[in-house]
Amino acid sequence: MCGIVGAVAQRDVAPILLEGLRRLEYRGYDSAGLAVQDAAGHISRERALGKVASLAERLVAHPLAGPTGLAHTRWATHGAPSDRNAHPHMAGERVALVHNGIIENHETLHRSLEADGYRFESETDTEVVVKQIDRELESAEDLLGAVFATLTQIEGAYALGVICRDEPGRLVAARRGSPLVIGVGIGEYFIASDVQALLPVTRAFIFLEEGDVADLRRDSLVIYDENQRVVERPVRQSELSADAAERGGYRHFMLKEIHQQPAVVAETLEGRLADTEVLEQGFGPAAAGLFSQVQRVQIVACGTSYHAGLVARYWFEEHAGLPCDVEVASEYRYRKHVVAPGTLFVTISQSGETADTLAALREGRKLGYLATMAICNVPESSLVRESDLVLMTRAGPEIGVASTKAFTTQLVALLLLVVALGRHHALEAGPAAEMVAALRGLPRALEQALELDGEIARLAELLVERQHALFLGRGLHYPVALEGALKLKEISYIHAEAYPAGELKHGPLALVDAEMPVVAIAPRDDLVEKLKSNLQEVRARGGTLLVFADADARYAEDSATRVLTIPHCHPLIAPVVYTVPLQLLAYHVAVLRGTDVDQPRNLAKSVTVE
Ligand code: G6P
Repeated sequence: MCGIVGAVAQRDVAPILLEGLRRLEYRGYDSAGLAVQDAAGHISRERALGKVASLAERLVAHPLAGPTGLAHTRWATHGAPSDRNAHPHMAGERVALVHNGIIENHETLHRSLEADGYRFESETDTEVVVKQIDRELESAEDLLGAVFATLTQIEGAYALGVICRDEPGRLVAARRGSPLVIGVGIGEYFIASDVQALLPVTRAFIFLEEGDVADLRRDSLVIYDENQRVVERPVRQSELSADAAERGGYRHFMLKEIHQQPAVVAETLEGRLADTEVLEQGFGPAAAGLFSQVQRVQIVACGTSYHAGLVARYWFEEHAGLPCDVEVASEYRYRKHVVAPGTLFVTISQSGETADTLAALREGRKLGYLATMAICNVPESSLVRESDLVLMTRAGPEIGVASTKAFTTQLVALLLLVVALGRHHALEAGPAAEMVAALRGLPRALEQALELDGEIARLAELLVERQHALFLGRGLHYPVALEGALKLKEISYIHAEAYPAGELKHGPLALVDAEMPVVAIAPRDDLVEKLKSNLQEVRARGGTLLVFADADARYAEDSATRVLTIPHCHPLIAPVVYTVPLQLLAYHVAVLRGTDVDQPRNLAKSVTVE
């Protein structure tokens, strides 16, 4: 989703801003732009449809220089991707602004500004903000005053940065609903929508809170809260290294992240397991008292994180004996709820900034849940800060838009929760110890699954020319099939759908012919024989089968059935292990089709708007 970078410094900031934009590319975007202010106050701007590389080319032809500036990658919401709609937006030559989020009352403001003689150059909702700041500057004392006055009139979500011709060396930033961090340099300050953008210039960050407004000059920073009172916000040192956002020899970030899974899963388990138990301390000091009171679990999430929740539902009910509901956040937030006593509200999110998940959490907090818990990958995210209990996945920065290592570490975190919670409920010591042992074996099992990479690359050729694919699973491998189908559609643009295999004959079987490949997830579990029957239904209709099966499951290959044998693993961790070949399959199909694997069209990494 949109990315912001800004700087007030003594040096020339254009290269810093451009590098920041490159480091935000992973968020997904369709145009980019940059505005730089020189020491005399003059603001120049360059914008380009497409990649940051296109903007960089324009800057070679028309270099911009100056010590203050703003830059942006735009993911279109209001108005098509184009040079004209790209940020920064300007009011004449006086004010330049970058914005993430959505201004909901833009039509009303637009009419009122037009009546005052303002002419609009774009179809964006953002342009009203810069024009409104310009209008306020007529009566406000300075840029800060004009921003304060404007913020009282806009409705919606925003993170924004603004500079003004008449106040060189000053940058005003604000956040409500979209994340924004301040990078603290030596004699210089920066803003960005996430820390990744600024790691080459600083490791010291201030995370703005909802409603904050920051007034940055090269040698001073003042932060105001939503009541316009000066506040102190802590400076935190990031442990991320600048090269976390490098591909490190891999052709794509997605491939790097798939291969990191044994290591980051081990990292997520680190310090959280005793010999035969899951350590409860890992869930925070409040956990011990709360876990025994939990009667049921409500999970809310989006996208891949939602799929992790769907897998966990099987685990909560089977192992912990706790009823569990799972819902996509965009639906959850807009309906009435009946909250049963003792329900733990769990959100799952890689970024911790997904607008729908955050809104669902805020809604949930009003509804009388026992407590809220976030399973999240970004320690300083809004979701983490607003939840009672937190369990961090330790996947490290995930750059590829299609989520991979975040998903598998979420599954691991959920398993830790199932065991810890379960011990207060239906889970006995013996089975708990077996689950802990299975978890310990997971990194090695993932390594073995990764060894199938070459074989999967060859299987990918079966899908590359197809327009559609069906994914089948049963039980908790149905959500794994959902995730496999999502990966394929996200990055290869092949239409892929997942079904519980037992549902095949209730509709999707009508689609099966030689042109419709069917991918089946077939570990050795209680449902394996039933799944085999379902696959016979496919074969009888001339469908091509690609079966990901346990070594012991004894699937026979034939002219239209290819079997990929997955090393045998404990059934508890099978959903995590079987995810890996599905990720690799999607990856290799996408590479063969020549798509933009890390930044697939139309998608964003962190969806900070509704
Ligand atoms: C976007 C990403 C998905 C991700 C979803 C939820 O759609 O492209 O990969 O699963 O958001 O994101 P979250 O950060 O909340 O897990």
